[in-house]
Amino acid sequence: MQKIYFFLGKGGVGKSTTSTLTAIENSLKGEKVLLSSMDPAHNLRDLFEREITQEPVEINENLFVSEISLDYWVEEYLKDVERQLAKSYAYLTALSLEKSFEIIRYSPGIEEYALLRAFKFYIKKYKKFDKIIFDMPPTGLTLKFLSLPKLSQVWLEKLVDLRNEIIKKKEIITRIHFGNITIERDELLNKLNSQLNEYDEIRKIIEDKNTTELVLVLNQDKLSFAESNLIIEKLKVADLSVSKVYVNKYDEKIPVDKINEAFGAYELKFFPLNSEPITGYDNLVEYLKRNNFLSR
Ligand SMILES: Nc1ncnc2c1ncn2[C@@H]1O[C@H](COP(=O)(O)OP(=O)(O)O)[C@@H](O)[C@H]1O
Ligand SMILES: [Mg+2]
Repeated sequence: MQKIYFFLGKGGVGKSTTSTLTAIENSLKGEKVLLSSMDPAHNLRDLFEREITQEPVEINENLFVSEISLDYWVEEYLKDVERQLAKSYAYLTALSLEKSFEIIRYSPGIEEYALLRAFKFYIKKYKKFDKIIFDMPPTGLTLKFLSLPKLSQVWLEKLVDLRNEIIKKKEIITRIHFGNITIERDELLNKLNSQLNEYDEIRKIIEDKNTTELVLVLNQDKLSFAESNLIIEKLKVADLSVSKVYVNKYDEKIPVDKINEAFGAYELKFFPLNSEPITGYDNLVEYLKRNNFLSR
């Protein structure tokens, strides 16, 4: 069964580095891995020191890497909204919608919807991979993205209730005749229900611990600890929890009791501090061997 990993944590702690190392480690152990960046400020290309595109690039026979283009998925999302609007409200086409779209493009909430679409597309298209590892954007956007399915569901449920009330009161039910069978349906209600199902599906995937794991990356410093605790708290609200904690830029000289005390409940993995940034495929592999993640 395919597993999905989200690497989260404060900016600069090493989400990109540790997700890349993990992807390489797993691929060299024989698993088919797709590593994909959702961070609009992409840097997998710097880590691999080569061009990385939205279309996954082959790194070794088991490892493919891509950088998801947020702009592309925002466009796709808006085009879809436009189609829906044009269908439902024909009169709107007479107005200048283009101007409104400029505003919608930069409205709060658009980016997480766009990322959710990208996510859905990826897990469907790349089903054959044993692991899909997502290198995530900064905490704010990541938390919004992860909470979106639940939040949308809550909203949609309210809208469905409201729609049902309206239908009951006004009896604006469209009757469609198929031979002698009459089914009653309401277009909007159908749409709301199908969206509800869609979010429910995504939620089930993200919340299922056998499928999805949230990996929290942190460093041995106060700020990183504080933000990590914040992430854990906020995830709880969305019925999500971290399963692994990766301590990056780990310094053996600093005692680990503070980490054990704060994060001992999670599966811990330590990535030692390197004397310099770890970039280039060969150097990344060498780092894994030097630190016994891979045998020589
Ligand atoms: N284990 C490590 N040893 C040395 N430098 C590291 C290590 N992990 C990350 N870095 C460096 O720290 C910086 C931030 O890492 P990055 O992976 O880009 O973090 P994030 O994706 O969380 O923003 C980069 O310059 C990176 O090369
Ligand atoms: Mg990064």
